[in-house]
Amino acid sequence: MLDQINGIRNEAGTENLSTADATENFRIKYLSRKGLLNSLFDQFKLVPGPEKRDVGKALNELKLFLEDKWQTANNSTQKSISQEHGSDLSLPGESYILGSRHPLSIVKSKIAGIFERIGYTVADGPEIEDDWHNFSALNFPINHPARDMQDTFFIENQNGEEPFVLRTHTSSVQVRIMETTQPPIRMIMPGRVYRNEAISARAHCFFHQVEGLYIDQQVSFAELKQTLLYFAKELFGPDVQIRLRPSYFPFTEPSFEVDVSCSLCGGSGCNICKQSGWLEILGCGMVDPNVLENCGIDSKEFTGFAFGMGVERIAQLLYRVPDLRMYSENDVRFLHQFKSETN
Ligand code: DAH
Repeated sequence: MLDQINGIRNEAGTENLSTADATENFRIKYLSRKGLLNSLFDQFKLVPGPEKRDVGKALNELKLFLEDKWQTANNSTQKSISQEHGSDLSLPGESYILGSRHPLSIVKSKIAGIFERIGYTVADGPEIEDDWHNFSALNFPINHPARDMQDTFFIENQNGEEPFVLRTHTSSVQVRIMETTQPPIRMIMPGRVYRNEAISARAHCFFHQVEGLYIDQQVSFAELKQTLLYFAKELFGPDVQIRLRPSYFPFTEPSFEVDVSCSLCGGSGCNICKQSGWLEILGCGMVDPNVLENCGIDSKEFTGFAFGMGVERIAQLLYRVPDLRMYSENDVRFLHQFKSETN
């Protein structure tokens, strides 16, 4: 049997293992379950007692030799496969870099989602508007200061007619919806708006709003309050409180500004809420009957409420963004911070 072992060792010694195929064939021939080495071990059981020591030693040496030869060849063929592909396939893989959604998109979808859950649908309208949709239909008196050059970007009309404007608020979309849809109307309208303001940490020449509109028979002020309370709780958490302060908008009567209790200090007063315990988040009111009539809706049969909020403002409160300009600078260090937001 020793001769047989030597014969196999010599034969294995001359095998050329320069390719992956040859290395694999070598493994099958000598080292696999039905390979030569195993069959030698089977025969070893029949070796007479006195010879067992020498044969056993030779067999173990053969085993080590075969395994070593295969291992060395296998390592180097694996390496050359990696080199062929121009990379080391044994290195850990590279992880994907996750993108992040823009905070304003995140907040816009949050707001839309909250209202969609209570039956509102989303609509949009043009950013370039005429005076009727941005102002007149909304009951702005002809000399109202909001039409002033200070606030509004005008676009020259080639035909020499009244100039167009870049819409100064999304309330213009309310008008378009009411002109084309008979109640019941339950819609929210997100979009970009423009105002001729000097750019600073607290003001920008463009920003985003979400407008809401609900028109039906017997829509009441109580429903407006409950809708806004529901919205505030969904957005800021179940403990938030709201308060309505009387205000003025030409298109609603009565009109209010709505504050939420400051989530940072819980209402006791801090820097963010300027010690008041309250943060303003939106304007709202019952749609003025004149506006309904302007849009072809019978104000004796229908009533409704509207509200409008600034998306940047809400994002500022949710994420503590200290400067409005950060939203449009696209600094990736800012944007990457919203990676974990899934909404
Ligand atoms: N359009 C107002 C603004 O830009 C916000 C607003 C207030 C919208 C009251 C409304 C509303 O629909 O009812 O400041």
